[in-house]
Amino acid sequence: MDNIYIKYLIIIIAVLMVVCILIVVHDMNCVKVRKYVIPVAGLEKTWHFVFLSDLHNMSFGKNNSRLAARIKKLKPDAVLSGGDLYNSKPGAGYNNAVELIKKLCENFPVYMTNGNHETKTKLYPKDFDHQYEKYTEELKAAGAVYLVNDYIDIEDTNIRLTAYELDHGYFRHFIRKRLDTVQIENVVGRAAEGKINVLMAHHPIYLKNYAEWGASVVLSGHIHGGIVRIPWIYSRKKAERGEEKSGTGIRMRGIIAPMIWLFPIFDGGLFKRGNTTMILSRGLGTHSIPVRFFNPCELVEVVMEPVKQAH
Ligand SMILES: [Fe+2]
Repeated sequence: MDNIYIKYLIIIIAVLMVVCILIVVHDMNCVKVRKYVIPVAGLEKTWHFVFLSDLHNMSFGKNNSRLAARIKKLKPDAVLSGGDLYNSKPGAGYNNAVELIKKLCENFPVYMTNGNHETKTKLYPKDFDHQYEKYTEELKAAGAVYLVNDYIDIEDTNIRLTAYELDHGYFRHFIRKRLDTVQIENVVGRAAEGKINVLMAHHPIYLKNYAEWGASVVLSGHIHGGIVRIPWIYSRKKAERGEEKSGTGIRMRGIIAPMIWLFPIFDGGLFKRGNTTMILSRGLGTHSIPVRFFNPCELVEVVMEPVKQAH
C-alpha cells in the first residue's frame, strides 16, 4: 500500500477515535430526559412522576444541584427511585446520592427502594461499615419514604406503589435464576384489587412474573441501557412476546448488561406484556464498565393518564 493511503487511513482512524471519545464524554455527563405518557385503564386521575435509577453515586453539578434543578423544572407530583443510587464498594461513599434526595425531599414526596447494590450492603453490614443503615437513616430523616418489600397507597389517587426486592442471588454475573410469581406474592402480598398497581422491581428480566402478579406499570433499571448501543433490527415475533416495540424495523440496542449478558432482551425503554407496561430506565450513572456510548445518562419522566372513555 502506498504511504499516502496509510497516512489517510491513520488520519481516519484517529478522527474516528476522537469522535468516539467525545460521544462517551458527552453520554457520561449529559442527562437526557425521556418522557413516557401511559394510558392506564381504571386510573382515576393523572399521576406525574420522575423515576431515578442507577445513579451509582455520580454527581451532576456540585452535590447533584444541576440534576435536582432539572427535576424541579419538570414539576412532578412525586419522585420515585428504583435503586443502585450508590456503589457496593467498601469506602465508596454515598454522599452524592443523599444530597440529591435531600434536595428533592424539600419539594416532592420521594419514594425509594433498593437495587442490588443497596441489597448487598444491607446483607453484609460489617464489610461496608454499616453503610446501608446510615444511608437509609439519613434519607428517612430527610423525609423520603423508603420501601423494601412493602407498599404505600398514594394519596388522592387509586394507585398502590409496591417495592419488591429480589435477593442478591438474582443479580449474579452470567446466571439467570428462575423466579416463580408466588415468590413475589409471598414477599409483598397480592396485587391490590380495585387499585392500579405500580411495582418498583430493580431487575427487568422478570417482567412476565411482574405481569402475572398484577402490575399495571413496572419500573425497573439495572441494565444501564446495555452500556454501548448500536443499530439493531427488531422483529414482530419478539414484539408479540413483549420484548420489543411493535412491528419490524431498526432501533438502537444495548450490547451488554452489567451482569455480562450480551444483547440483553430488555435493555431500556418501554416494554409490554399483556396489560402490563414496563418502563426500563437506562440509568443515570455507571459502575464496573465506566462507559456509555450512544446511551446518555437518562432521567425518566412518566405521566400515567386515565384512559378516556368512548361516548
Ligand atoms: Fe443494578
